[in-house]
Amino acid sequence: MHMNDDRINYLDHAATTPVREDVLEKMLPYFSQKFGNPSSLYALAGEARYGLDEAREQVAAVLGSRTGEVVFTGGGSESNNTAIKGVAAARQGLSPGSRSGGHVITSAIEHHAVIHPVEQLEKMGYEATYVGVDGAGRVDPDEFAAAVRPDTFLASVMLVNNEVGTIQNVSAVSQRVRDAADRVGANVLIHTDAVQAAGKLSLNVDDLGVDLMSLSAHKIYGPKGVGVLFVRRGTELEPLIAGGGQEGQMRSGTENVAAIVGMGEALTLSEAERPSNRARFHELSERLVEGIAERVPNSRFNGHHTDRVPEIANFSFPGVEGEPVLLGLDFKGIAASSGSACSSASLEPSHVLLAMGMSPELAVGSVRISMGRETTGTDIDDVLQVLPEILEQLGTFPAAGGN
Ligand SMILES: Cc1ncc(COP(=O)(O)O)c(C=O)c1O
Repeated sequence: MHMNDDRINYLDHAATTPVREDVLEKMLPYFSQKFGNPSSLYALAGEARYGLDEAREQVAAVLGSRTGEVVFTGGGSESNNTAIKGVAAARQGLSPGSRSGGHVITSAIEHHAVIHPVEQLEKMGYEATYVGVDGAGRVDPDEFAAAVRPDTFLASVMLVNNEVGTIQNVSAVSQRVRDAADRVGANVLIHTDAVQAAGKLSLNVDDLGVDLMSLSAHKIYGPKGVGVLFVRRGTELEPLIAGGGQEGQMRSGTENVAAIVGMGEALTLSEAERPSNRARFHELSERLVEGIAERVPNSRFNGHHTDRVPEIANFSFPGVEGEPVLLGLDFKGIAASSGSACSSASLEPSHVLLAMGMSPELAVGSVRISMGRETTGTDIDDVLQVLPEILEQLGTFPAAGGN
């Protein structure tokens, strides 16, 4: 916040990020001069087509995939929905022995953009298993694999959790699920929601062992409303949006060329800067986590201390709801979040924290701080100064006995 000026201290990068100047600059010509429809044949369209092709090459280079396996979508939610419903639709009728449409495995801590489409499948007669997590938010790959049945067609596990930052061992999940599928004669595709992992972890699809991967541009300093679905060659997928057959028949509709160009550039830049950012974010995170533990002794750190991206840290404060803390922080110019942005309008305790074994009372008092490119040590120090004051005003700190 930089308490002496009126700049907002933005600590909600897991919700969204501003478009970087260099990304915006690259996008701008595609709104006006290079406005052609990439499917048309004249030279003007060629410019737009070149923009699309280059963005696809940029994404493929980061994923270690072929360009033909990169499908541009309208964002992370659409990518997840396409992966889940598209595979379900393609598989329907392929296992006539199964009375239900088939079986999906996912984790209990997925983003709602995975959980809700899986629930929609359940309403249509499919079956689903939601594998639980330990107290730090980690899925056990063996438990995941133990859920595989002969009619299982999809396993979906997120790479980085958006509320607590916990990293899942996706390659181990993939390996174990494939072994289990071989044993029971199932044909299981592996999907990962890597929306929160981009710019933070390697997205190499072969190392991760995935057939489908979702990404979103607005978490990595690209524009909102554009994402990627990696679809491994040979994967059968019924498109969610049918029409003119763009994106290799996987996602029809005239391409949002400017946004796609922004996605490609944002991913390339975030990947290039990834190695040099690691040490800095680890230091900032340590400063934050240790500082809060020191200054608010009854606070609780939620998540895993090492299997976590340092950019995301989640805390609970017993006896207090997240909302007044966030309002207090906002009053001081600090933007943070309670759980995930999309559920912060309701007072529902976070499904992620509940799955981690937290009581509903404690789960409504969680605060997520998520850092980004422009975050400095001063931003963290401001939080450390302001937070104890806010908790004190709310009458919960120091809370002897912690009730
Ligand atoms: C893990 C995860 N998956 C999916 C999404 C949805 O992405 P989008 O906002 O691009 O639809 C988000 C963002 O809120 C997320 O954090």
